[in-house]
Amino acid sequence: MQIVHTIADLRAALAGRGRPAFVPTMGNLHEGHLSLVRLARRHGEVSVASIFVNRLQFLPHEDFDSYPRTFAADCAKLEAEGCDIVFAPGEKDLYPEPQTFKVQPDPQLADILEGHFRPGFFTGVCTVVMKLFQAVFATSGGGAAVFGQKDYQQLMVIRRMVQQFALPIDIIAASTARAGSGLALSSRNSYLSDDQRVQAMALSQALQTLAQAARRGGNLAELEAQAMAGLRAKGWEPDYLTVRQRSDLLAPADATQGELVALGAARLGSTRLIDNLEF
Ligand code: PAF
Repeated sequence: MQIVHTIADLRAALAGRGRPAFVPTMGNLHEGHLSLVRLARRHGEVSVASIFVNRLQFLPHEDFDSYPRTFAADCAKLEAEGCDIVFAPGEKDLYPEPQTFKVQPDPQLADILEGHFRPGFFTGVCTVVMKLFQAVFATSGGGAAVFGQKDYQQLMVIRRMVQQFALPIDIIAASTARAGSGLALSSRNSYLSDDQRVQAMALSQALQTLAQAARRGGNLAELEAQAMAGLRAKGWEPDYLTVRQRSDLLAPADATQGELVALGAARLGSTRLIDNLEF
């Protein structure tokens, strides 16, 4: 496995190696990320994982400084998984000057849910992903990139960006890896105490209960409010628990039918977790 830190070295490492399959990450890798790498290896001739904690997608009060940085352990896991190239740029490699040009995603999709509670988040994500795509795919002229379904809205925003900019990149969705308790694997789970880890399964359970109730019918806004109250009673601070159409993340006219998704974001102590459930 090669480890490179600059775009020039990455392009040199990729030259002549065929179609890349790319997994962008912010490091602190867990089984969920490794499942993305395994999937990526089926979709390209050379697998690339990036490790970069992207300052642009964090709000000033968020956990950019404390975000776990576990580079050596991450590389060992990637090597064991058969990843070919790790791209780990420093901030100056990816942002050699202040990033004044940014990718502004469609506000209809990016200013709701996560974008509402984390303003500017998707601009930061799209901007860095566009830069990473340029770094990884410029020599091959295209390839595949794998994103986890746990970050449901992010996956949709990236798909839309790729479509609107006609990028020659196949976006592959990977299903959410979960602990036995149902808790979606996330780098931020490492912030949870042992007790909180047990409590944390309540988020996926609340989404299941909400999805079942929505299918049975009734006032969706009331069902969502009940779901949030239920989580609050268990000590969480929910940002949202909601049922949306899979196609555009807008509220459905009738939740008893159609392709829907229940999405939630909530804080347990100081840790903000997100999850979703298609139904
Ligand atoms: O999902 C993530 O880990 C990040 O948002 C991503 C896609 C690596 C961009 O920084």
